[in-house]
Amino acid sequence: MRKNMLVMLSLICMMSLFLAACGSGSDAKPPEAAGQEEGRQTDADKPSSGEKKSVEIFSWWTGAGEEAGLLGLIKLFNEKHPDIEVINAAVAGGAGTNAKAVLASRMQGGDPPGTFQVHGGAELNTGWVAAGKMEGLNELFASEGWMDKFPQDLIEMVSEGGAIYSVPVNIHRGNVIFYNKKVFDDNGLTPPATFDDFFQAADALKEKGITPLALGDKEPWTATMVFEAALLGVLGPEDFKKLYTGEIAFDDARVKDALEKTKHMFSYINDDHAARNWQDAAQLVANGQAAMNIMGDWAKGYFTTDLRMQANVDFGWIATPNSGDSFMVITDTFGLPQNVKDADSVKEWLKVLGSVEGQDVFNPLKGSIPARIDADASKYDAYGQATIEDFKKSSLVPSLAHGSAAPEGFVTQVNQVMTIFVTNGDVEQAARSLRDAQLSSGIAK
Ligand code: GAL
Repeated sequence: MRKNMLVMLSLICMMSLFLAACGSGSDAKPPEAAGQEEGRQTDADKPSSGEKKSVEIFSWWTGAGEEAGLLGLIKLFNEKHPDIEVINAAVAGGAGTNAKAVLASRMQGGDPPGTFQVHGGAELNTGWVAAGKMEGLNELFASEGWMDKFPQDLIEMVSEGGAIYSVPVNIHRGNVIFYNKKVFDDNGLTPPATFDDFFQAADALKEKGITPLALGDKEPWTATMVFEAALLGVLGPEDFKKLYTGEIAFDDARVKDALEKTKHMFSYINDDHAARNWQDAAQLVANGQAAMNIMGDWAKGYFTTDLRMQANVDFGWIATPNSGDSFMVITDTFGLPQNVKDADSVKEWLKVLGSVEGQDVFNPLKGSIPARIDADASKYDAYGQATIEDFKKSSLVPSLAHGSAAPEGFVTQVNQVMTIFVTNGDVEQAARSLRDAQLSSGIAK
């Protein structure tokens, strides 16, 4: 826990240093003032003659199916552009736990990577775009014919004031329970659709000596995911979104209800939760030591790509309680930072990443669905195909734990609250701290 706190503190320090250095939020420079006019490129941005062309790709995809997706994309890029060297600058740590701090210090030091992983929504827009650090990509979207190839909702998540700032490579779903099929079948259980179903199944499993819910909150964002799933189940999609516009307070009675339900869920977790990361927790479900795991569907990438498990055979899935009609969207995107060494090569990378071919290489390995609407569904397994359909018919909501719903500073504070809440289960205290964070971060007035 101490290590988590240190990482979080250093992240906050770096972000505040960075934001102080370049301005943020309402003080941010408008795109024009920041010199963001489209395609703006100086000679300094180009490799000098004789220098090899290169693109440095910064992400946190280093294992568990995540790396496989990235390497698949890099292989495709190498085939298309053998003259451009790819530098894979991935920094380990789920959800960017460590990568985001490294990125902040590089951006602050004027050493941006060629392109970096960033979630669509607040993380991109109130972070790097507001700070005037990104180039607009409208011309690229137009020349690649992408404007009607990505869902409008997704384009909005990567746009600010009419300018598009990054290219979505995927859509992950956040509100999913993955369960071990054999454990469920052997115990005559059906996947839980409601909170009551969940608690009943969990009690039955506990009775049999099986850990009902796997959690690995060595990195606290995983606990935040359980909480935000409960929030979505209690509030429903419309009111869930109002938490982040400030229309609903974080000490509202329904938030406290969601905290109670989260606490109840936490009463079923593995004892060693604080020593595990997300894949270690998912592994408990894979090997039958635990029955369920609430996790984004990068866990499914881990199951199928790394562990060679099969959807609907070895594992099953269901939306988290009471959220079957909602799709919690997590989209990984890549943009073009200002003042990169070789902007042309970065744009070539973005073109591959945004192409049908690129998306269909990456996403079946990664566990996500393609961000494009015209991708080839036959390349996806039963989980992927069902999720592609669910995306079309669900209410879409942004994920807090993965940066889309609210600015980074607030996410960090919620993670801190959850670190304490997993241990002490104090609903009143958690609600108070969340409300304070909602006010101090400017989400609510
Ligand atoms: C998320 C990211 C996913 C996956 C996950 C776990 O933030 O969007 O692609 O990497 O973290 O590391």
